[in-house]
Amino acid sequence: MYTSRITGMGKYVPENIVTNDDLSKLMDTNDAWIQERTGIKERRHIKKGDGNSTAVMGVKAAEMALERAKVSKDDIDMIVFATLSPDYYFPGCGVQVQEMMNIHTCPAIDVRNQCSGFVYALSVADQFIKTGMYKNVLVIGSENHSGGLDFTTRGRSVSVIFGDGAGAAVLSRSEVDGHGILSTHLHSEGKHALELSLKGPSTNHWVPQLIEENPQEDIPYYPYMNGQFVFKNAVVRFSEVIMEGLKANNLEVSDIDMLVPHQANLRISQFIQKKFQLSDDKVYNNIQRYGNTTAASIPIALCEAWEEGKIKEGDTVVLAAFGSGFTWASAVMKW
Ligand code: ACO
Repeated sequence: MYTSRITGMGKYVPENIVTNDDLSKLMDTNDAWIQERTGIKERRHIKKGDGNSTAVMGVKAAEMALERAKVSKDDIDMIVFATLSPDYYFPGCGVQVQEMMNIHTCPAIDVRNQCSGFVYALSVADQFIKTGMYKNVLVIGSENHSGGLDFTTRGRSVSVIFGDGAGAAVLSRSEVDGHGILSTHLHSEGKHALELSLKGPSTNHWVPQLIEENPQEDIPYYPYMNGQFVFKNAVVRFSEVIMEGLKANNLEVSDIDMLVPHQANLRISQFIQKKFQLSDDKVYNNIQRYGNTTAASIPIALCEAWEEGKIKEGDTVVLAAFGSGFTWASAVMKW
């Protein structure tokens, strides 16, 4: 049995900064409301004409990760791409990345697990490495939210939260004993699928049907979020899945050197931090600057924590996520 280890991380966020004040020019909102409820000060949005898309941002993050891992694109055995905002309905972004980076005909998989997408993708990659089938897997989380949100007052409770960006990791067969991914833990509960969802356009909810189902709405194809219900479930599931990961490895909360939670909402992270009595230096947050970038949030945050020297060799790092599905997941690793 082999183990896998992150050998390189990369990130990319569009240059275009959108502050809360910028949003208040488009809709009835304000900086105080957004900061108080979510902790977000600004986020990045793709600008029309800047050449970015979910796949393009994924490539930029992936190139950085490969360079840092010192792994050639020719040595990539598989691509796993997590997103809820693919460039095309089909095919997925994984094959687009493969083409844009001129990677050979390795398998490319898209993971559709929203905010938990990166941890799910990491887990998929980990299984292929553990069995000895592959040596290097490129794992990407990328989102272009700004292209599909309602920036009018009607959509304000959702559109102020999300931002664009991408993060990537190269997961490689570990050469160092006792380092790497110790375990991953995945869960889902489909009965709450519609509490945080985008119905269409999809083959089951094509545009005429969406309009028929929502006669009062002029453009009914924006995401729906039952905010308070999501919040209540998130804090419970985050806690459970972190504890599950620790227990599986005979670790205590005090063994955590760095917790990188999905950047859903600063209030959720703070709730978890308080519950586990973790000091500020043991929980990484950057939602203030980027908003919620869904599948990209964990790899961007992990990359920045590592760049800032907040994660060191041998540290116990825990990733935890919760999101639409509902899905939730954790990964425990020795860095
Ligand atoms: N600006 C100003 N006012 C707003 C805004 C806005 N952007 N959005 C909603 N409001 C108003 C509402 O219309 C409402 O007004 P009313 O009282 O006159 O009816 C009032 O603010 C309160 O609205 P609520 O939806 O009850 O606000 P709440 O306190 O629940 O905060 C929030 C909303 C921030 C979404 C909260 O429910 C939350 O944090 N939920 C967790 C969901 C989350 O984190 N999602 C992230 C994505 S999912 C994920 O990553 C797991």
